[in-house]
Amino acid sequence: MILIDGKKAAAELRAELKEEVAELKSKHNKVPGLTVILIGDLTPSQIYVRNKEKSANEVGLKSEVIKYPDSVEERTVLEKIQELNSDETVSGILVQLPLPKHIDKQKVIEAIVPSKDVDGFHPMNVGNLSSGYESSIPCTPLGCYLLIKKIEPNLSGKKAVVVGRSNLNGKPMTQLLLKENCTVTITHSKTKDLKAECLDADIIVAAVGIPELVRGDWVKKDAIVIDVGINKTDNGIVGDVHFDEVSKNAKALTPVPGGVGPMTIACLLKNTIDCFKRSQI
Ligand code: GUN
Repeated sequence: MILIDGKKAAAELRAELKEEVAELKSKHNKVPGLTVILIGDLTPSQIYVRNKEKSANEVGLKSEVIKYPDSVEERTVLEKIQELNSDETVSGILVQLPLPKHIDKQKVIEAIVPSKDVDGFHPMNVGNLSSGYESSIPCTPLGCYLLIKKIEPNLSGKKAVVVGRSNLNGKPMTQLLLKENCTVTITHSKTKDLKAECLDADIIVAAVGIPELVRGDWVKKDAIVIDVGINKTDNGIVGDVHFDEVSKNAKALTPVPGGVGPMTIACLLKNTIDCFKRSQI
């Protein structure tokens, strides 16, 4: 079984991006900039944002974090986004989710100009991705996609099952696999026989948020299994895949932690650089 090393893949991607930033700097005499807006004091969000900032600095991006208290008014955030939209030194804008209840998530997402939407959450980017046009691609599915391609460069005709239909992961993951000519089944909580669907798959992407849902006897021999889950349990952090059982069947499997997670942040940096490049044309 191949243990897919997301930490190593992310470090390789960051090294490539660092070189690219250096080239862009010498060509344009400026570097791509990422601005992250963090609202409130949720610990996981703070950790993510700190990691994003650290990684952005490592590859040579200009990075800025704007922090607001939980009580910030929606209007203040929307005005800041408008300001960042027209700031030439800002290539990418990310508002860390989740948001406090009194702030309308969709309003915030749609306030970000699509050309700086490094999350790929704006309806314009969602639509462009599903139509097969150039777009920002949500970072986690993009990271999963790059890991799958490392194991299997030709995905044409493969059967892929995506477990979970979220806008963040399941839906964009489906689009990326479809673009590679996979036959994709998207499954969810109302799917009749999830085990049977998974058993049919050459590729399984589990992004549903249920600890160790995908069991050893759900996985065809030699399937590629990507685990997007990060679930806190009494036994520590586990994924959506039962690692010990599935590792006996799968051809390749991502661990949790150390699989998809590190690739998500590296892909955010990639998206920021891609937004910068498109803005220079
Ligand atoms: N919170 C958890 N994951 C994400 C993500 O991919 N983007 C944003 N903006 N917030 C998140």
